[in-house]
Amino acid sequence: MKEEKQHQNQQHHHLRRIIMISNKKFTRPTIYLILLVLSYTLGYLCASTSTTTTKQKITSSTLTTSIANNPPIASAATDDVTSDSDHFRFLTRCADPISSKLVRKTILDRVFNGTSPFNEFPPPHIKSLLRPKRIKGWGSKGAVFENLIRKVKPRTIIEVGTFLGASAIHMAELTRGLGLRTQILCVDDFRGWPGFRDRFKDIQMVNGDLMLMYQFMQNVVYSNATKSVLPIPFSTGSALEKLCEWGVLGDLVEVDAGHDFHSAWSDINRAYKILRPGGVMFGHDYFTSADERGVRRAVNLFAQVKGLRVQVDGQHWVIDSA
Ligand SMILES: C[S@@+](CC[C@H](N)C(=O)[O-])C[C@H]1O[C@@H](n2cnc3c(N)ncnc32)[C@H](O)[C@@H]1O
Ligand SMILES: *[C@@H]1O[C@H](CO)[C@@H](O)[C@H](O)[C@H]1NC(C)=O
Ligand SMILES: *[C@@H]1O[C@H](CO)[C@@H](O)[C@H](O)[C@H]1NC(C)=O
Repeated sequence: MKEEKQHQNQQHHHLRRIIMISNKKFTRPTIYLILLVLSYTLGYLCASTSTTTTKQKITSSTLTTSIANNPPIASAATDDVTSDSDHFRFLTRCADPISSKLVRKTILDRVFNGTSPFNEFPPPHIKSLLRPKRIKGWGSKGAVFENLIRKVKPRTIIEVGTFLGASAIHMAELTRGLGLRTQILCVDDFRGWPGFRDRFKDIQMVNGDLMLMYQFMQNVVYSNATKSVLPIPFSTGSALEKLCEWGVLGDLVEVDAGHDFHSAWSDINRAYKILRPGGVMFGHDYFTSADERGVRRAVNLFAQVKGLRVQVDGQHWVIDSA
């Protein structure tokens, strides 16, 4: 510490001497030039002490070199690892995919102890708290749903962010109309967001427990879709990680949960892991300025890192892995 101060003092002396000398012999522009060169040199010396932090900063141009210098860890599949940075590392390997025929049973067994949550629904003490049908969505019937369902003919759809089921039920109706036997898994904690009841006062609360999942389920019952739609009532992070671990993959994966950059980034990375090869991933709000364009920034960065193309369909972004 003391030494450092001395060193600094010496530098200051040195600097003053130069300026004093320059006052006599040099013109003004020359003095500026000397000062400029001096501050650059100082800046360079300071920066070189913190190379470790600079190294970890990932930009698209450093990405390739960092892969070359740090080959992926042996246990991970090469194509799954895009960089050595922790920001890009998500659970690397999913279990071998299970057959789409087994998806519903797997979720029932693993999440619902083998019994459909729609059995004997709604329970008597909840019935009076629900409306026969209460749906509100955002762009939930956009053309993108029909376009992609016609194109992909999905056996399994995974929706990340469901709310009252507007988009899920729309997709159930589309697949039924096309004669597809599609399972739609709806990942949502069914908590909405803190204060969402300001706009949805009619969604009841019992001792702090929101009836959002029950109202969603009631909407599914109303739409005769209980055989094709299942809730997965957990946070997107933990639910998607488990689907990956169980080998439950989607032919179509819709991402529409948290819209801030960090939520969208995490959801998109995890969603891509559970996308069946050749499947399509898509999501809402590519154009809204909400959350500082968090969705758009996450989608673009993801596409850039993976070398994928972002297509646009109405308000939605689309990434086709085929
Ligand atoms: C915009 S809404 C989904 C709307 C729906 N896709 C539609 O079009 O009708 C977003 C939903 O994401 C859910 N959500 C947000 N962050 C979540 C998280 N981390 N885990 C689980 N669900 C989350 C909220 O509960 C909310 O229901
Ligand atoms: C789960 O299912 C088993 C077998 O049907 C049953 O015995 C058990 O009580 C169930 N557990 C819960 C928590 O419902
Ligand atoms: C659900 O099925 C019932 C009985 O088959 C039918 O009356 C009703 O119109 C259907 N509702 C919808 C929304 O398809």
